[in-house]
Amino acid sequence: MKIYDSGKIGLGLIFFIALVTFPFWVSIGGNKQMPELKMPDSAHECVESKEFMRTNHMRLLNQWRDSVVRENNYIYVSSTGKSYVKSLTKTCLNCHSSKEEFCERCHTYASVRPYCWSCHLESE
Ligand code: HEC
Ligand code: HEC
Ligand code: HEC
Repeated sequence: MKIYDSGKIGLGLIFFIALVTFPFWVSIGGNKQMPELKMPDSAHECVESKEFMRTNHMRLLNQWRDSVVRENNYIYVSSTGKSYVKSLTKTCLNCHSSKEEFCERCHTYASVRPYCWSCHLESE
């Protein structure tokens, strides 16, 4: 067996990352330590299901940005057939009106620091 087998190292690394982040993804389901998030008062559903949004909102935002910037396509049709304008501030933050008590509260807990706000709030 070769000592430097990059394929095995890659797999090992993926496994390691999965193992290390696993407790977070489990605890996010309803652990007491999870901070309380300020949910929208009037709206009752997100652009996609809560479960989908929990794990995929960052990918969805990237898709939105790419299709706006590259294809000038501003309309998102959700899996239930509703249309939304693809906008971080005009759509997401319109419902989740407190960035601090929603997005940031969870990100602080998860130690994530999205770099979006330097541009996206000032421009609003
Ligand atoms: C350096 C400044 C800058 C940063 C940082 C930045 N963006 Fe943007 N973003 C822009 C600009 C400029 C546009 C184009 C605006 C337009 O065409 O309406 C845009 C467009 C978008 C759009 C689609 C249009 C809209 O109104 O939302 C999304 C979604 C988006 N960005 C998400 C993000 C996310 C998520 C992050 C952080 C991970 C981020 N951006 C970081 C400058 C930035
Ligand atoms: C029409 C209002 C509305 C819009 C627009 C909206 N949300 Fe939501 N969002 C909600 C509601 C209501 C919930 C709670 C859904 C539930 O409990 O089933 C939610 C849930 C979520 C969750 C899961 C929270 C948790 O408890 O795990 C995330 C993450 C999220 N939204 C992010 C976003 C992002 C990012 C955008 C923009 C791409 C967005 N939302 C757009 C209303 C909205
Ligand atoms: C329920 C918890 C939770 C809520 C609420 C939440 N996020 Fe996140 N967000 C996360 C986690 C966890 C990650 C890191 C996931 C990863 O790296 O795979 C993340 C990552 C991101 C990223 C990518 C950052 C990066 O550096 O890769 C963006 C952009 C983002 N969130 C935007 C938002 C916005 C905007 C809102 C509010 C509308 C929001 N999030 C609400 C948990 C949340």
